[in-house]
Amino acid sequence: MRASILDAAGTAAAEIATLFWWMTAGSVVVWLLAVGLGLYCARGRRLPHPERFVWGLILGGGVIVPSLLLSVLLYFGLRPLTRVQAASPEATTIAVAGEQWWWRVRYTLPDGTTVDAANELRLPVGHRTAVALASDNVLHAFWIPALAGKVDMVPGRATRVVLEPTTVGVFRGACAEYCGTSHARMDFRAEVMSAGAFDAWLGGQAADAIPADSVEARRGAELFTWHGCGACHAVRGTAAAGTIGPDLTHVGSRPSLATASMRNAPAEMAAWLAAPDQTKPGAHMPGFAMVGGDDLRALAAYLTGLR
Ligand code: CUA
Repeated sequence: MRASILDAAGTAAAEIATLFWWMTAGSVVVWLLAVGLGLYCARGRRLPHPERFVWGLILGGGVIVPSLLLSVLLYFGLRPLTRVQAASPEATTIAVAGEQWWWRVRYTLPDGTTVDAANELRLPVGHRTAVALASDNVLHAFWIPALAGKVDMVPGRATRVVLEPTTVGVFRGACAEYCGTSHARMDFRAEVMSAGAFDAWLGGQAADAIPADSVEARRGAELFTWHGCGACHAVRGTAAAGTIGPDLTHVGSRPSLATASMRNAPAEMAAWLAAPDQTKPGAHMPGFAMVGGDDLRALAAYLTGLR
C-alpha cells in the first residue's frame, strides 16, 4: 500500500508535496546563508563595518527578508486548504465517521439511497469525491497521505475533505489524532478504481447479503441470530439491523479484518470473535470465546462467506 505524502496520487497531495519541496529548498538556502554568515563572522577580518551596512544587515536579514519569506510561505501553505475543502460537483458523496476504533463509511448514491460499509474506502479515479467527516465520541483525524492532507473529525462539528485521486491503486489511510488505546489500530485501506469498476463494486455493496451455501455457514447464520449479534451489527437482507458496530452485509469481501489488523479468513475471523481485545485493546465488541470452537468456526464461515 502506498503511504507517502511524497508519492502523491491525488491533486491535493501533489500540491502539498510541491510545497514540501519548495520549503525544503528554501530552508537549505537560508541554512547555507546563515552558516556562511557565521563563518564570515568567525573567520573574517575584524575590521569595523560601516554603520549603514550593519543596520542594513540587521533590518534586512532580521526583519524584512524573514517577514517577506514567511508571508509567501503562509500564502502557499494556506492555498492547498481551499482545494482540500472545495465544494464538490460530483454526485457520489461519502460520509466517514470515526468510531472507537474503526471507520463507519456510508456512500450516498445519486438517487439518494445509502450503502453502509466499514474500514475500507473506495474511490473512482479522476473524480472529485467529497468526504464528510464526523465523530460522536472523541477526536480522530482522517488521513490518506498519498491523496490529501489530514483533516480532524471533531465531535459536534462537520468537517470535510475533497479527494481527487489521479491514479488507480491501493493507498494506506490512518487516524492521525491520538484517540485512545487502539488509535494505532485505525489503519484503513483506500482503493482507487476506474469509474466503471467503482460503479460495479458499489452496485454489489448496495445489494443484500448472499450467505454462503454450506452447512457450516447456515449454522453460523443461526448462531449469529441466537447470540444476538444483530443488536449491534446489520446484515442487510436479514433481521440483523444493529447500528452500534460495523455493517457486516459484505464483510467477507473486505480485504482485511479489524481495521487492517488481520487477514480476512475463517481462522482469523474465529480468533477475532473469540477475543477482539487481543487484537484491538479496548474494543467495545465483547469476546465470544465461551461459545466454543465449533460454533466460532461456524460463525466465521457465515461471516467470511458474506461477499
Ligand atoms: Cu482514531 Cu486515532
